[in-house]
Amino acid sequence: MASEALFKARCSSCHSRATTLARAVKGNSTEAKLASLSKFLETHHVPDPQERQAIAAYLVGLSK
Ligand code: HEC
Repeated sequence: MASEALFKARCSSCHSRATTLARAVKGNSTEAKLASLSKFLETHHVPDPQERQAIAAYLVGLSK
């Protein structure tokens, strides 16, 4: 599934705007953001590692 579609399917019921969420991701570099978001999502609705990576990359990409 494309990352944007994954976000809509898994996250948008509670987080209506991806861009708002993207700005809340902590970390002062792309790597730090990816790491903190991936870690967070392990216990926040995304148990699948591949989906986690796709969603994290999508959101961090939006925050640039
Ligand atoms: C069932 C509702 C629900 C779903 C589904 C959900 N979230 Fe959340 N999310 C929340 C709530 C409530 C909070 C704020 C409280 C907390 O930190 O747990 C939150 C917080 C967050 C935060 C921290 C934001 C901040 O302000 O620090 C991030 C990042 C996040 N969610 C990402 C996601 C992503 C990505 C998805 C999709 C995989 C997702 N969430 C799915 C309810 C949800």
